[in-house]
Amino acid sequence: MDRDFTILAIETSCDETAAAIIRGGRTIISNVVASQIDEHRRYGGIVPEVASRQHILTINAVLHDALRPLPGGWNDIHAVAATYGPGLAGALMTGLNVAKAIAWIRELPFIGVNHIEAHIYANWLVTEDQPDAPEPQFPVVALVVSGGHTLLALLEGHGRYRLLGQTRDDAAGEAFDKVARLLGLGFPGGPAIQKAAENAPGGVTLPRAWLRDSYDFSFSGLKTAVLHQIREYRAREAALQPGAGKRSASAAAESPLPPTIVARLARAFQESVVDVLVTKTVEAARAFGATEILLAGGVAANLRLREELRRRAPVPVRVPPIALCTDNAAMIGAAAFYRFEAGKQDGWDLDVQPNLPLQAE
Ligand code: KG4
Ligand code: ZN
Repeated sequence: MDRDFTILAIETSCDETAAAIIRGGRTIISNVVASQIDEHRRYGGIVPEVASRQHILTINAVLHDALRPLPGGWNDIHAVAATYGPGLAGALMTGLNVAKAIAWIRELPFIGVNHIEAHIYANWLVTEDQPDAPEPQFPVVALVVSGGHTLLALLEGHGRYRLLGQTRDDAAGEAFDKVARLLGLGFPGGPAIQKAAENAPGGVTLPRAWLRDSYDFSFSGLKTAVLHQIREYRAREAALQPGAGKRSASAAAESPLPPTIVARLARAFQESVVDVLVTKTVEAARAFGATEILLAGGVAANLRLREELRRRAPVPVRVPPIALCTDNAAMIGAAAFYRFEAGKQDGWDLDVQPNLPLQAE
């Protein structure tokens, strides 16, 4: 397909309002992301109603910024794409309907994109420091780890996926966020835990849920293990208080945990998550003869995960720059290009699919 083919892509599946212009599926002409993180932080997590309203308030300005580098403006766009799932229904609706309206008015093809597939396609984008990076060569194994998803997939060609395994409970990012909350660290939890774990003393080992003979993951038991460690620490502290009794035990339960305890648990938690993710990904890469491992999703920003995967992988590991690991519309544009190239496009009746799985069509 024409390497000048230019796609306007929109992403509003969660708490980022994003628009991007992508040329030839790989070149980023613009990539605008308006994060709502400050709106949600006060609630300690994402509030769907707040997200929907914020997308409506922000989308026009984001689109305006994304179009700015195009000399011909709207006339330079050849197709419009948007995420239609998975994600929050109300949030998805804004981006999807804006994209459909633009495509309809401009009489352009419209392409609906699976958000998880798009996270993987962030690995097809080229960046300024490596403008000539070769495309990934199939088969590849992709590890998608974000706030909403954790899965391992085999890609045998564009649009040809095999879901190898996924989380049976919490997503990896969700586990980071929940454990950060238990430790009294801020939201989002991933970066906070990574920071707390830096230079932390060892000495604590938390369990790993291997789920033998399966590429599935489970992180909720690990979260409970952290909670038990915190309770044990509190109980020990309360017992040491002079006149230890009910009053001092409950007072201790409310006080912040000392930084060394937080650091030690943050490190042990992170090591456990990284160990399981890396072990299963490396096994899959070997089993399916992958030429490369592609990392994707917000948790791919985790430095320990990158380091450990690179250390243990039998093949090269590709990781997008951090700004392309977290939610953005550039990855939607990349995924849309290869869908369109394969002859796929969507009608005006395409609706949001909040639980859309990663599936080959
Ligand atoms: O992909 P993403 O931006 O949104 C979803 O589609 O979910 O991922 C956000 C998730 C959050 O759970 C956040 O805590 C996690 O990615 N995250 C990290 C790091 N940076 C972000 N987790 C671990 N280490 C990090 N450095
Ligand atoms: Zn995402």
